[in-house]
Amino acid sequence: MSEVDTTRIAKTVLVIDDERNIRRTLSLVLEGEGYQVIGAETAEEGLAILANPAIPVDLAIFDVKLPKMSGLEALERVRKDDALRDLPVIVISGHATVNDAVNAIKLGASDFFEKPLARERVLVSVRNVLDVALAKRALEEASREQMAKYEMIGKSAAIQRVFHEIEKVAPTRATALITGESGTGKELISRAIHRLSSRNGGPFVKVNCAAIPRELIESELFGHERGAFTGAQSKKRGFFEQAHGGTLFLDEIGDMDLVAQAKVLRALQSGEISRVGSEHVMHVDVRVLAATNKDLGKAVETGGFREDLFFRLNVFPIRSPSLRERVDDIPLLAEAFMHGFSKENGTKGKPMDAEVIARLVSRRWPGNIRELKNVVERMAILSGERVTVADLPEDPHESPFGDADETPEPGLPSDAAEDDGDAGTAKAPPVPGEYPTLREHREQSERSYIVETLKLTGWNISRTAVILGVERTNLHKKIRAYAIKRGES
Ligand SMILES: Nc1ncnc2c1ncn2[C@@H]1O[C@H](COP(=O)(O)OP(=O)(O)OP(=O)(O)O)[C@@H](O)[C@H]1O
Ligand SMILES: [Mg+2]
Repeated sequence: MSEVDTTRIAKTVLVIDDERNIRRTLSLVLEGEGYQVIGAETAEEGLAILANPAIPVDLAIFDVKLPKMSGLEALERVRKDDALRDLPVIVISGHATVNDAVNAIKLGASDFFEKPLARERVLVSVRNVLDVALAKRALEEASREQMAKYEMIGKSAAIQRVFHEIEKVAPTRATALITGESGTGKELISRAIHRLSSRNGGPFVKVNCAAIPRELIESELFGHERGAFTGAQSKKRGFFEQAHGGTLFLDEIGDMDLVAQAKVLRALQSGEISRVGSEHVMHVDVRVLAATNKDLGKAVETGGFREDLFFRLNVFPIRSPSLRERVDDIPLLAEAFMHGFSKENGTKGKPMDAEVIARLVSRRWPGNIRELKNVVERMAILSGERVTVADLPEDPHESPFGDADETPEPGLPSDAAEDDGDAGTAKAPPVPGEYPTLREHREQSERSYIVETLKLTGWNISRTAVILGVERTNLHKKIRAYAIKRGES
């Protein structure tokens, strides 16, 4: 498994500034966080370092005003140099005009800010910019291979597990039941299983069970003879027959009615089918994959789904993880969608600001990957030369009162105030002494916000710290102080 290295140890930052003080400050701040820092006084000197293959630089910080060549001119050269084109560059300026900032961003700076330099701002920016660059590189390396194989990408443990399961089940004839929320890639998983199986020369037939009217499903699946029922004017091959030698993908299987379920079960058990209106039995060689976003186990309990069919399908269960469980993949997916979208439209992939990626990472995605993809494509269309936070569509799931899921129903008794994370939702009139003090309340809500964010990032401390705008060490302190346990709800 190729984990992307998100630690900052031994990352090298080149600082080009003619002011010795600035070079020193940046060295102190960055070296304190484990970066290696190289200083240069002039753009010429900086470019010479960048041109030297013996000194690999991960990120450069350019001052705008320099003795001879300006920082912006140097940036322009970097962007035109094939070997340096992707080098992340942050531009800083002592007396910035709006024009400088605009020009820097236009020329492809990853970030821009004014002096005096605020330690926190510098660190967050450097971290974000390096994360994005890293994600980009990881994407290029790992995803080329992944994309070719699965037409899916992801480096998170959750998606790697899925890749592993695809790999295991593909060469077999086993039926697989793919479950997961809407938009998580269930169809892609089933297509990958087909592609990696020995049936890949045969057809892949997808049936959307939810879209076929109940009275037609049998004839759609098994075909019918001419005159089998009113409206059957000619004979028709069903999906099972069409999938002969290949794979039949029963999508939304949870919506199939019980009568059709019985027939599918019989076909699976015997490998034989007959068209509606015919006695003739045909043998079909079909591998069946099924998907649903419903809880089929529960449907079995309530009588909505046949238990025997459930067991027959569930020979090899694959759970398609929600995007919440693979927040780590968001930068990678966003870059891939931007890239893919540009390629489709014959344009160049637009760079996305680090802040845009950070915001995407911290959003909630109930529509999962499909929703992320839509947002990225929308930004690709609406943005200018690069994608900035201004291009981000409003978050439809954002609640000004924190996590909406945690908000208790109105009218709950006043002891709801003791619930974890229900900041600001207490409805009962205040009773002195029974209510938490402001300080207690603040701590309680700070604690639950940290837990929420940790959950959102899959308990990734670095990422959580970036989102919350605090330093890692500070976050560690708070986690200890609040006795937050990994995995708590
Ligand atoms: N790992 C991935 N890498 C790249 N793209 C992905 C990945 N997973 C999903 N997608 C994209 O997300 C979108 C949704 O995927 P898909 O249709 O397979 O989801 P689904 O689980 O079948 O959704 P639904 O339940 O709504 O039918 C598609 O555009 C797909 O290309
Ligand atoms: Mg689907």
